[in-house]
Amino acid sequence: MDIQSDQRTAEGLEMPECQSWNEVEKVILERRSVRKYKNKQVPENVVRRILEAGRYAPSAGNYQPWSFIVVRDKEILDEIQSFIRKLCKIVKFFCDWKTSPLGPVSWVFAQITMRLMPNKMHPTPFGAVFMIADGKLKVFHDAPTVILILKDRRGVGKPDIDIGICGQNIVLAAHSLGLGTCWVGFVELIRQMPNWKKRLGIEYPYEISEAIAVGYPVGHPDGMVPREIHKIGWIEGGIKKFVA
Ligand SMILES: Cc1cc2nc3c(=O)[nH]c(=O)nc-3n(C[C@H](O)[C@H](O)[C@H](O)COP(=O)(O)O)c2cc1C
Repeated sequence: MDIQSDQRTAEGLEMPECQSWNEVEKVILERRSVRKYKNKQVPENVVRRILEAGRYAPSAGNYQPWSFIVVRDKEILDEIQSFIRKLCKIVKFFCDWKTSPLGPVSWVFAQITMRLMPNKMHPTPFGAVFMIADGKLKVFHDAPTVILILKDRRGVGKPDIDIGICGQNIVLAAHSLGLGTCWVGFVELIRQMPNWKKRLGIEYPYEISEAIAVGYPVGHPDGMVPREIHKIGWIEGGIKKFVA
């Protein structure tokens, strides 16, 4: 990672009208995922307010294929967490070749799963699965509020993209109000579970897409961190060049 180059993003991209980042840009650039929360509930009106930011997201055909369930009962969140942990333990049993009693067979399982589900079993979530199984990572990070974003499966085009934009609006609005958030992709493990659908009152055409943990952060996790620099293809005047 080239920190120097990232600093150029912060300081060197000179804009004629403003030399430093404006408030919106700062919210975007300084937001970080928060995985440690204070034991303090977020006021209801603040949650309603960040959901408004989600509701105003653009969507294909203006279909707005989302719906929200706000969960603030610790018992329910703990139950979802222990259910997901059980599933992670099963995956770890079959696929963690360093610890599995299946020995080298688990390596074969891991390779097959990674090839069959390259997105889900990418090394990062794969590592997180093992951490959740071992109790080293909490699914919702003990956040006092969790927003489940439901997707209307009849959405136009690619509703998952609409959900992503909606969620990011929520996350950025939350950050601008001093809250911390963390996307929780692992919630998809309860998506198809009839008992959880019933318990949470989720019916067709809706299904759980993602979750966002929300709360007051412990410490100051925010700030700009270096990011990958993907070269930008730039076509102008009949020539294509690449800029960093
Ligand atoms: C769709 C999505 C799902 C994610 N799921 C999880 C998750 O289940 N657990 C978690 O701790 N972080 C999760 N994250 C957070 C990412 O790990 C994080 O955004 C990434 O490491 C970049 O760090 P930053 O958000 O601090 O910039 C998720 C992020 C996205 C966008």
